[in-house]
Amino acid sequence: MLKALSAATLFLAAALAAQAQTSPVSFDPAATVFRLDGGGVSYVFGINPRGELQQLYWGGRLAAADGFAQAAPLPEWASFDSSYTNTPQEYAGWGAGLFVEPALKVSFADGNRDLVLHYRSHTATANGFDVVLKDISREIYVTLHYTMDPESGILARSATIQNREAQPVTVEQAAAAAWALPPGHYTLNYLTGRWAGEWNLTQEVISPGARVIESRRGSTSHQANPWFAIAAGRPEQVSEDHGEVWFGALGWSGSWRITVEQDQLDEVRVTGGFNPFDFGYVLHPGESLETPVFYGGYSASGLGGASRLLHRYELDRILPHTAATSRPRPRPVIYNSWEATEFNVSEAGQMALAEKAAALGIDRFVMDDGWFGERKDDHAGLGDWYVNAEKFPHGLKPLIDKVHALGMDFGLWVEPEMVNPDSDLYRKHPDWVLNFPGRPRSEGRNQLVLNLARHEVRDYVFGFLDKLLSDNDIAFLKWDYNRNWSEPGWDQLPAAEQKRVYVEFTRNLYGILAELRLKHPKVEFESCSGGGGRVDLGILRYADEVWPSDNTDPFDRLSQQDGFTYAYTPQIMMAWVTDSPHWLNRRATSLSYRMLSSMQGSLGIGANIAAWSPEEVALAKRLIAAYRQVQPTIVQGDLYRLISPRNGSEFSATQTVNAEKTQSVVFAFIHSTQQGRLFPRLKLKGLDPATEYALSPIEGKPRAGTPTVASGAWWMNHGLDMDDGFRGDFQGAAFRLDKR
Ligand code: GLA
Repeated sequence: MLKALSAATLFLAAALAAQAQTSPVSFDPAATVFRLDGGGVSYVFGINPRGELQQLYWGGRLAAADGFAQAAPLPEWASFDSSYTNTPQEYAGWGAGLFVEPALKVSFADGNRDLVLHYRSHTATANGFDVVLKDISREIYVTLHYTMDPESGILARSATIQNREAQPVTVEQAAAAAWALPPGHYTLNYLTGRWAGEWNLTQEVISPGARVIESRRGSTSHQANPWFAIAAGRPEQVSEDHGEVWFGALGWSGSWRITVEQDQLDEVRVTGGFNPFDFGYVLHPGESLETPVFYGGYSASGLGGASRLLHRYELDRILPHTAATSRPRPRPVIYNSWEATEFNVSEAGQMALAEKAAALGIDRFVMDDGWFGERKDDHAGLGDWYVNAEKFPHGLKPLIDKVHALGMDFGLWVEPEMVNPDSDLYRKHPDWVLNFPGRPRSEGRNQLVLNLARHEVRDYVFGFLDKLLSDNDIAFLKWDYNRNWSEPGWDQLPAAEQKRVYVEFTRNLYGILAELRLKHPKVEFESCSGGGGRVDLGILRYADEVWPSDNTDPFDRLSQQDGFTYAYTPQIMMAWVTDSPHWLNRRATSLSYRMLSSMQGSLGIGANIAAWSPEEVALAKRLIAAYRQVQPTIVQGDLYRLISPRNGSEFSATQTVNAEKTQSVVFAFIHSTQQGRLFPRLKLKGLDPATEYALSPIEGKPRAGTPTVASGAWWMNHGLDMDDGFRGDFQGAAFRLDKR
């Protein structure tokens, strides 16, 4: 069996091999200045006379001939703020009177906790640099990795911390990177939520002090997502289309923290990486710790421009690729039985649903929870990954064969990192879970978290998944994770080493996924954690899609999808059409509205289709077929959020344009018409002004007299009007424009 990390490395190396372009990077030896250019962005830092690595510039691309003088440290501010704490460093050690968030804090075996990192050497890498720093006296080395994306200008930064001392050193805090902006007025944007309520865009003025966004939960979390965008200006000035935006996202699916602070001199610093809360990683002599990657980008075209860059980067550089395709393929249209049957799955029942799904034109049939172990409800079975013989007396094969015969591929739900105390696995290995001996083991959804950091657990999880995929013709796994950590002990290790669990758990998760992908290259994965609890650029290196929320209410989803797309591409945003009235809000909506809401992302059906009327089947079939024709534009095109559904907006609208600017798709939704107000005219964006586009409705009508063919200039300057009858509650319309 391949070792976990080597599998991850091999897998990522293959993905990176597809990225041949280069971007200009340079080092000016006279001024000791490093410069990285990519897309519309320049990023510049230098070595100041003290030897610290100091940030010099991050923003719009500069002319090639523009030069920088050697970095000059900021002066001290009286006796209270030293030059060391005032100077924006690329990666500051906690020492020498540093009061802003440190990038690195360590404690040495002899009690010394002072760390001051100075430049030692550097090497040029593909599209970037590796810059080595070292403490002024101790043998602690930090290599900062910088890789600039030539197209988007997104910079990937991370650090490797190495202990070459003769004694162990404990890393108490390790960021992936620190970013800095000069004093000014800024608005911070970030994404917050809870189960069934993820992806709320939160905006606030950046003020003196620190805003911490984080997860202490052992995984990414619903509560906050590791993404930020800092827009120039106050909240009322922040726009979708205009203004400077600096944004970033952390690639880590364990506990994480991003601190955005305005320091004593009003500079803004953003520091992010492992969450230092309850952190401690002992580096024995010769050992290294590699941080997650913190990606940072810049756009001069508002929050919309920022998200379009990030979407492109995710599609081109993050999501799993095969070398043969430059972008991941649009997601199959899936059917998932969860909301229809919950745990009540059976061979006959699933086969009946599969027949209905095939008749709708579905590509992939996914059986959700309930098929394994003694899984009748959520009290038992997790950990026992054998097929339940009562429900599937002949194993999964008859169902899978049937699904294939119907022209679909087959997907299955798993929750590999969990165990119910009522399971054979737990009865056999009660020590395999995260716990502190002698303390209660707090349950969530009647389950405990397996300590995936342990090699036996890792091997067990890889082993059963490998067998499942080897024994069955499975195209897709929905990988779920339905609780957060508690009592995160790892009692097989000495007390001082137990906190390694925060790093090794997540590394093993990535390692298992990487190894499965290498061994079963045709299998695709979805990252689900009770909805959107594990969505980040770390897991997205191994997952083809995510489940944004267990909340499938089509109206709530409009705002959730709006929030989601600030950070993540619609390509990965799975959206199911489910039943009405919705189980969560008890809201009744038409099938047309539900379909259109889900068609904004990667479409799936999750309703009890056995109960649908012939009219509903016909409507869904027609809209699935219409969706397929424009899906690449919707999920991989440039997204413009024309009218936000946030803050109780009466209307909302989005538009996507494909890269060639030959096709565009518009969605328009009414929440609740008031005072007979007509839907606002939609001035479209991103089209080629000189190209002629033909308008055709997917659902709904344009206003009488709207031309069927007009120039991009017409659609962008004059705009598109909805039919005057487009009024009411929970109404939707969609249109496509195609180059003539
Ligand atoms: C989680 C997922 C759901 C479903 C259930 C099954 O809540 O988010 O989509 O798979 O688990 O138990």
